[in-house]
Amino acid sequence: MEKASMIVDKLNHISYIDDRLYGSFIEHLGRAVYNGIYEPGHPLANEKGFRKDVIELVKKLNIPIIRYPGGNFVSGFNWEDSVGPKEKRPTRLDLAWFTVETNEVGLQEFSDWLKEVNSELMLAVNLGTRGPDEARNLIEYCNHEKGTYWSDLRRKHGVDKPYNIKLWCLGNEMDGPWQMGQKTPYEYGRIAAETAKMMKWVDPSIELVACGSSHVNMPTFAEWEATVLDLTYEHVDYISLHNYYGNYDNDTASYLAKGIEMDDFIKSVVAICDYIKAKKRSKKRIHLSFDEWNVWYHTKESDKKIERWIKAPPRLEDIYNFEDALLVGGLLITLIKNSDRVKIACLAQLVNVIAPIMTEVGGKAWVQTIFYPFLHASSYGRGEALKVNIDCGKYDSKEFTDVPYLDSVAVYNKEEKQLTLFVLNRSLTEDIELNCDLRTMNVKRCIENIALEGYDLKAVNSADNPDHVKAINKNTNIFKDGYMNTKLNKASWNVFRFELN
Ligand code: AHR
Repeated sequence: MEKASMIVDKLNHISYIDDRLYGSFIEHLGRAVYNGIYEPGHPLANEKGFRKDVIELVKKLNIPIIRYPGGNFVSGFNWEDSVGPKEKRPTRLDLAWFTVETNEVGLQEFSDWLKEVNSELMLAVNLGTRGPDEARNLIEYCNHEKGTYWSDLRRKHGVDKPYNIKLWCLGNEMDGPWQMGQKTPYEYGRIAAETAKMMKWVDPSIELVACGSSHVNMPTFAEWEATVLDLTYEHVDYISLHNYYGNYDNDTASYLAKGIEMDDFIKSVVAICDYIKAKKRSKKRIHLSFDEWNVWYHTKESDKKIERWIKAPPRLEDIYNFEDALLVGGLLITLIKNSDRVKIACLAQLVNVIAPIMTEVGGKAWVQTIFYPFLHASSYGRGEALKVNIDCGKYDSKEFTDVPYLDSVAVYNKEEKQLTLFVLNRSLTEDIELNCDLRTMNVKRCIENIALEGYDLKAVNSADNPDHVKAINKNTNIFKDGYMNTKLNKASWNVFRFELN
């Protein structure tokens, strides 16, 4: 059996993790909202039409922020359509996804739903077809107390207290030709700066995310970030990163190495932020908002056949398998390892659309394979991120040489006196005997040893077989005299939780 050793050292501090690293995303797209979180005719719908079974599953994930209402959708969205009496709201064509949008669920309804799931809103403004004027009106509607046209309109709509939305996205993927109102980096940088300035004049307490590239392989990547930050640096707080991953060539060893690609992407964006900081002699540091990340490839071809101009057709309903869950675990490790600069991240998305949670119309809600690593990271990945030193075997993937079989990060929670260790075994053939030195952590005992392991790489869950792939609890008798000794199964996601003295 392969052997590996690791050291977790209290002094290997990376950063305190911002809870918003475990954010998610819901767009007016496919069945995310309609026939997803909202299905008034469902037997489990509450008085507002939201499904209680979905609420319960979302609550389990303990998600601090949810990005809304898009995504590509936001670039053609008139926010005024989605507030006030429902019967007066217009139905419109959505040119992002070629559907019709009835605006039945809007700002107020979504905010009500967020309260049910204990989450907060990360709201995007439309910088595609619209601009600074609509954005400053929207923030006045949302965050200004009273006594002005837009704040009083909110009150007339029955919302007495301001929403007080603290985190805002300045548009979405403005570099993409698929985007309504695509812009050059200069055009976007200017409009983003002016919008940011005016929004912060209305409410100086907000934080703003400027759009970075739509993905790492965009032809304008890097130049886009540099130009946008040059133009917006003093007005914004974060720059966004988006990236989706897929096993297009059915080469799982290379697929599981994609955490390295994510890491490179993050490091490159950090370098650009700091280059602009130096250029401007600024004291301010821009942080990263990785506000769209996930696996997305299973439905890319089949979705091309979807009929146009219908309401909420099933779209982007990727069914995730076991290897997808392993990759999602690896991507979470990468985000935690970079938590000194990545302060916000959103698993895209949350319900039905490239999602950990799926629903049947009129039927069940069930969880996909990727639900588990996200659940574990969000539940136990709060506190201080610690770098883990690893000595293990390596392999070559299509894109990288010397990919370590093991990837890992630790999270130390001082208040709760707990340590959690996340470990991915990427080897498809080798179980690994692990010796882990925990002496500096003053461990009392192992309280939980969770694993997602032993499945066929292509195994999936479904409405009829929702527990086919699930995490299991294993033997906790693996810690003695400062060391953990255990076996990591080939192709496995592992979570070790320790109580500290
Ligand atoms: O999450 C699905 C889509 O992916 C979003 O609308 C867009 O921002 C990205 O291209």
